[in-house]
Amino acid sequence: MTPLVEMRDIALSFGGVKAIDHVTVDLYPGEVVGLLGHNGAGKSTLIKCLSGAYQMDSGQIFIEGQPVTINNPRDARAHNIETIYQTLALADNLDAASNLFLGRELVSAGGFVDDDRMEAETRRIMARLNPNFRKFNVPVSALSGGQRQSVAIARAVYFNAKILIMDEPTAALGPHETRMVAELIAELKRQGLGIFLISHDIHDVMALCDRVSVMKNGKLVGTERVTDVTEDDILGMIILGKKP
Ligand SMILES: Nc1ncnc2c1ncn2[C@@H]1O[C@H](COP(=O)(O)OP(=O)(O)OP(=O)(O)O)[C@@H](O)[C@H]1O
Ligand SMILES: [Mg+2]
Repeated sequence: MTPLVEMRDIALSFGGVKAIDHVTVDLYPGEVVGLLGHNGAGKSTLIKCLSGAYQMDSGQIFIEGQPVTINNPRDARAHNIETIYQTLALADNLDAASNLFLGRELVSAGGFVDDDRMEAETRRIMARLNPNFRKFNVPVSALSGGQRQSVAIARAVYFNAKILIMDEPTAALGPHETRMVAELIAELKRQGLGIFLISHDIHDVMALCDRVSVMKNGKLVGTERVTDVTEDDILGMIILGKKP
């Protein structure tokens, strides 16, 4: 099977610092791949090369086997890559539907923003992703962290994301909210999306991911199937940079 994404031999330096030092990772449809490593290991920088926030110095990105050039977030979006950051870019004063369609509003035949249709579409997709979501008519500032995540995820899914990048999606969440996001991730997996998940929580990662890629000082330590390793093996990779 062809990977959905392959990032091959990626390198990127900031001044003299090799933030990414010839790293190769891949991702298959319906798979969650965790990116683990200490602060400054290069996780966010690596996925920013995929989301178009940074341009790599060298290396290649393949989407479904085809080499692609990703110079900016628009290029990434054109390849159905969507990113969900921990610090969610939601407009606090707007409701869920307005956030879901922010910058891509539905308009009626007369050229007006079609609020009714946007709310109906939001309800339709939420029924699938997070059936317990009820807060359609309040600003998202009144939503919990997990509910905000579900709005961001709904936005990505509505616009046909095939590849989802989640950078620390549960970092600011309590246990209940974290469970909600975990259920969303499981649902997206069933729908065949591929997800790169950056997290510091090794339990989360072992529970949610199929494989983990561990980075240290900009280098890839290794990639393991979670069923083949223990948490201690992974900790050894993170801390000592040693393969199990
Ligand atoms: N815009 C930038 N300019 C200069 N250096 C940067 C920039 N972004 C990242 N770096 C450096 O690149 C390295 C990797 O940083 P990165 O943010 O990718 O780490 P990370 O693994 O995501 O860490 P964390 O777990 O803390 O989020 C670090 O040494 C960091 O200081
Ligand atoms: Mg980071």
